[in-house]
Amino acid sequence: MSRLATVIIIFMVMIHPLRAEDVAMGERVFQQWCIHCHGEDNSGPGTLRLAWDKGEDKSLLTERHDLNREYVRVVVRRGLDEMPSFRITEISETELNALADFLGR
Ligand code: HEC
Repeated sequence: MSRLATVIIIFMVMIHPLRAEDVAMGERVFQQWCIHCHGEDNSGPGTLRLAWDKGEDKSLLTERHDLNREYVRVVVRRGLDEMPSFRITEISETELNALADFLGR
């Protein structure tokens, strides 16, 4: 095996637990700040509005596969129609990156 391949494998092994931790942090942020509007019981304004605008299959953020990381970041910082924006003092950049990893998987 070439030295480069060895270095890449070691790097991937090192980085893997970090990525898992990011997604876990993203899920915690989602539970704290988003779930009351984007929950699974179909009563939150986010879930309802997305079902109305985009269709039932797009209503749950946690089941979407078409959400781009950067789009999640922009919507959270700027808000979108009835959705409020979130400040850096509420959701830090590290937390927002983790949230984007969680939703933008
Ligand atoms: C007060 C309720 C509320 C909260 C809290 C909220 N949202 Fe929303 N969200 C909405 C509504 C309503 C929409 C639909 C906006 C529209 O298009 O009218 C929306 C839309 C979105 C969209 C756009 C989806 C698409 O298909 O374009 C994303 C992404 C999103 N929210 C992410 C989040 C995240 C992440 C959080 C937590 C940090 C969050 N929202 C918190 C109400 C909320």
